[in-house]
Amino acid sequence: MIDVLLGLQWGDEGKGKIVDYLAGKYDIIARFQGGPNAGHTLYVNGAKVVLHTIPSGVFHAHCLNLIGNGVVIDPVTLDAEIKKIVPLCPDLLQRLFVSQKAHLILPTHRALDAASEAAKGKDKIGSTLKGIGPAYMDKTGRNGLRVGDVLSKNFKEKYNKLVQKHKDMLKQYDNVIDWQQWEAPFFEAVEALRQLQIVNGEYWLDTHLKAGKKVLAEGAQGSMLDVDFGTYPFVTSSNTIASGVCNGLGVAPSRVGEVYGITKAYCTRVGGGPFPTELLDETGEALRKAGSEFGATTGRPRRCGWIDLVALRYSVMLSGVTQLIMTKTDVLDSFNPIQAAIAYNVDGVETKEFPYDITDNVDLKPIYKEFAGWDTPISEVNTYDALPQVFKDYCSFVEDYLGTRIAYISNGTGRDQLIVIS
Ligand code: GDP
Ligand code: IMO
Ligand code: MG
Repeated sequence: MIDVLLGLQWGDEGKGKIVDYLAGKYDIIARFQGGPNAGHTLYVNGAKVVLHTIPSGVFHAHCLNLIGNGVVIDPVTLDAEIKKIVPLCPDLLQRLFVSQKAHLILPTHRALDAASEAAKGKDKIGSTLKGIGPAYMDKTGRNGLRVGDVLSKNFKEKYNKLVQKHKDMLKQYDNVIDWQQWEAPFFEAVEALRQLQIVNGEYWLDTHLKAGKKVLAEGAQGSMLDVDFGTYPFVTSSNTIASGVCNGLGVAPSRVGEVYGITKAYCTRVGGGPFPTELLDETGEALRKAGSEFGATTGRPRRCGWIDLVALRYSVMLSGVTQLIMTKTDVLDSFNPIQAAIAYNVDGVETKEFPYDITDNVDLKPIYKEFAGWDTPISEVNTYDALPQVFKDYCSFVEDYLGTRIAYISNGTGRDQLIVIS
């Protein structure tokens, strides 16, 4: 069976920390979508590590790690990441596998990303500018280069053909970045990529699954950034919900078991786009400070607000979440009262359904339910019973609203700061 773990909000829910914890129970961790736009933070012997393309199971000696076909790989970022992680994890390369069908991010994809964002002006998505959108466009446009291509004799020819196309596209933009400076490092990194264990990911996984191995698929970004169901067009370019696992790894739906969905006890978003429960006041600022809400990939301040149960219930439905994980609960320690959006008022009509359009075209106001805060530090608590009653009341309400039980509560950055609810 393959279990899935994914973010239910706009990313940065704490997936890295939780995968690192759960990896103890799995044989294989597999990334199925996204690319170096992801920044997954975990702590190894007290030291902070941020992973972008490498799965978050690498710090468990027994775990194999697969970068699946649904991921887009920038060889430069991957190589830099490997060089950073190897000293902490000397056998990394023996346990890291890359699908030959994963697509490549080229220097010109990054230039196109930057040019396209700049041209959007105030409507920009707030992309991480890692070349994600243009690389997925070439994938679905049937022009892309894949990891398997780096092993072919005519890789350079294929590269030049695609770059020529990109050069023509870049002509429509002013102020194009000098992407040629990135070409030499790109080809050096391609050489490093050739040395990795490049596999036919879907057969590789099938063999392991038939041998009874336990696999966890690690999501990147969050459900509200899904290209089909997120707050389009302010989304990423892949399917971040559970269905993305099937085409991002080549596994059948019948093989999917548990779906772990992660939510913060509040909500954040980085980049542009609608965010119904955003707090633009001092409470939002206080959340950013208490939660150290700055992007793990770009360092940008994250926008902060209250938990949005309307959006969360939508995400739970889309992925069929079987177990909830609530993170960053300790961040709310000194907030009193706490709010949770339980419905929206859209142009005067109340709804619990996530609307098609939540941009400035509509007048959307969240309807909140207020909860008493717990006014006490909970980061040292390690059993559910020992948590304050008002906190448990908050959790029960969330469970009832979402129709799904909370299986884990995270109350700090450390691997052991996780309360398992049996
Ligand atoms: P990801 O992209 O979902 O892996 O999340 P990020 O790593 O981008 O952001 C989550 C941040 O919250 C990281 O800095 C984590 O170390 C931190 N974090 C995770 N869980 C907790 C928690 O329960 N409490 C606190 N205070 N921080 C947490
Ligand atoms: P993890 O895996 C939070 C956001 C960007 C931007 C939009 C599109 O760490 O949770 P892209 O680079 O894909 O073109 O950006 O999506 N975004 C993320 N926000 N966490 C992430 O990943 C994100 N990856 C992309 O800020 O708004
Ligand atoms: Mg992140």
